[in-house]
Parts: sequence; C-alpha cells; structure tokens
Amino acid sequence: MLILGIETSCDETAVALVRDGRLLGEELATQVDTHALFGGVVPEIASREHLRVLPRLYRELMRGTGVDAGDLDGVAVARGPGLLGSLLVGVSFAKGLSLASGVPLIGVNHLWAHLLAPGLEGELEFPALGLLVSGGHTHTYLIQSPTEFTLLGRTLDDAAGEAFDKTAKMLNFPYPGGRYIDELAREAEPDTGMFPRPYIENPTLDFSFSGLKTAVAHYVADHPELVFETMADPQAVADLPAERRASLARVCASFNWSVADTLRIKVERALKQVGKVKSLIVAGGVAANTGVREAMRSVAEGNGLRLTLPGLSLCTDNGAMIAHAGWLLAEAGYRHGLELEAIPRGRIVPLDWERASERA
Ligand code: KG4
Ligand code: ZN
Repeated sequence: MLILGIETSCDETAVALVRDGRLLGEELATQVDTHALFGGVVPEIASREHLRVLPRLYRELMRGTGVDAGDLDGVAVARGPGLLGSLLVGVSFAKGLSLASGVPLIGVNHLWAHLLAPGLEGELEFPALGLLVSGGHTHTYLIQSPTEFTLLGRTLDDAAGEAFDKTAKMLNFPYPGGRYIDELAREAEPDTGMFPRPYIENPTLDFSFSGLKTAVAHYVADHPELVFETMADPQAVADLPAERRASLARVCASFNWSVADTLRIKVERALKQVGKVKSLIVAGGVAANTGVREAMRSVAEGNGLRLTLPGLSLCTDNGAMIAHAGWLLAEAGYRHGLELEAIPRGRIVPLDWERASERA
C-alpha cells in the first residue's frame, strides 16, 4: 500500500511517501527563519508560505521517487489540531488530489501521528502509554492500538515546548529556543531548588506549565546580568564568553530538570493508573530534549517497559509521520469523504472516519 502524507499544521511544510510502513521519500521546508524575526509563529504568514511551497515539494517528491498520483492508495493529511489557516492549505491540496485521481482521502490526527512515528524505525508494542510533548501540546494517552487512543492527561495552559520557548525568549535565545536550553543544560548540573516542578502536588494527570514560566520571569528579573541583548543571533550563543555561558548553563540545566522531572512524575502516575502496558512511547519536538529522554529512560527501566523514542528528525513536525499514520489507518480500512474538516488547536479531533467496507 502506497500512501502520500501531507503536513501543514504549523510552520513546517512537508510531504512524504510511505510504502507498506517504510519511508520511500520525503521533502520538507521549514519556515523557522521567517517566524524567528517575530519571535513566534505568525499564522497568516505560515498559511501563505504553505500555499507557496507545497505544490513544489509535492512535485519534487513525486519526481524524485518516480511515483505518479495514479499509483497512490491513499492521500493522508494532517487535519488537526493546528493553525486553522495552515491546516486548510494541506487539507484542500489533499482533497484536490483525491478528487482528481480518485485516491481515498485519510485525515490524520497530528498528535497521534507524532506518537506512531517511531513505528517507521521499529515495531511498536501495544498497549502503550504515550507522552506527546510538543510546541502546542502536552498529552498522555493510553494507546491500545494505532486507532485507539484514550486521552489521560493534558496541559491546562502552556505546553512543555511553549515553556521551553518562552523561557528561551526571556533569556534572549533565538526562536524557537528549546534546543538552545537543551544545549546549555548539558554543560551544567541542575540546581533542583531553583525552579518549581509545576502542578505535581495536584493529584490529576494534567499538567500546568505557566507557573514555571512565572518563576523564570522572577528569576530573570532578579538576575538581569543573565540576559544578553545580542542573543537573538544563533552565532552569539556559540560565542558566549565562558563565565556568562556557565551561569546561563546552570539556569538552563535547572529549568530543564524541572520540566523533565515534572513529566517523569506525571508519567509514573499515569502508569499506575492504567495498569499493565508493554511500552512507553515519547514523541513531539520536546522528545528531542536530552533531559526528557533521560527521565523517560529511567521511568521505562523502573517499570520494566520498552521505551520507544523517535530519532531526532522524527521528533519535530514532518511528512513521514503523517504518511505512516495514514498507512496504519488505511490498513485498518479507515478513510474520509471530501467533507473532511480541519480542526484548530483546542478542539478535539473527531473520530469521523468511514470504513472502506461500509462504503457502497
Ligand atoms: O512537535 P514540534 O515540532 O511542533 C509542534 O507540533 O508543536 O515541537 C516544537 C517544539 C518547540 O517548542 C521547540 O522549542 C521544542 O519542540 N524543541 C525542544 C528541543 N527541540 C525542539 N525543546 C527542548 N529541547 C529540545 N532539544
Ligand atoms: Zn507537531
């Protein structure tokens, strides 16, 4: 089965082809440099960029792999959650292809696609506990199979990635700053008393990261010498004088520890609640974080679970994960009609598939 995947939910335009669960080819264009000028994603610019580059990426992918639209068994598209205007570009493109070539359309939940992405690199074991930590979401799920996800906990305010990015902004790192915090954090030991581990005393499985952001804001206000004016340029991070770099590294390590340990505590709690699972799957941009990866390794080890972590390029948004999730759905007989809706952030993605077998 040959599936095309299209991803336009935020600031990466990406397409990929997956044949029987194996990646055949992919193209990706990131808008990160454009949005960095504004210190965050500008939705209007994001949609226009997707519209501009998506047809070119599609042509390059098809030319590079020698695939023709008529060869496809499905067109999978990230239908949400994400920025509505951006999603509409990918969804409309996918509908056009489906209509023109008669290939079934498959709407993919972007969050599920993140968690299923490691399936491209190895076997997934179910039931699994899933932790999705991205720029827009912090969710835990019980995953019974590639089509059965039960949401257990979610963030009530900022996502983990957002906490990284907002902290990085306060320290004047380039946008998006998660990876700079990670880089410096590796150079120091954390001061575990510097920042709180937000919301851990709350007995639910939900997260709340806005308190941590406030704690960082207070710390930065008390230590103005930490912040450099020129740090918006990535080169300035590389050129930081040693002493300044060391004090910033300590702040980054302490912040990173607070986030990673909060995730560890809530995942441990989720595992107790759901009972027996076989694996722990961690995905999303923040799954690239060294401290988070280490914390999850220790949770998996302590609970006798297999840990499934995607390779770094599969952590952030990409087309391969959409094509792969689309393939799993297609294999299970799921598809959508041309009335498929795009779902903005904050709304639950409905389970509104049609079963191929139920179609007249
Ligand atoms: O999954 P993703 O690419 O996009 C969304 O769907 O949101 O995640 C992007 C997020 C950003 O907040 C970025 O700062 C964060 O992932 N990120 C990291 C690291 N690499 C990316 N956060 C912490 N440490 C990293 N190494
Ligand atoms: Zn994502």
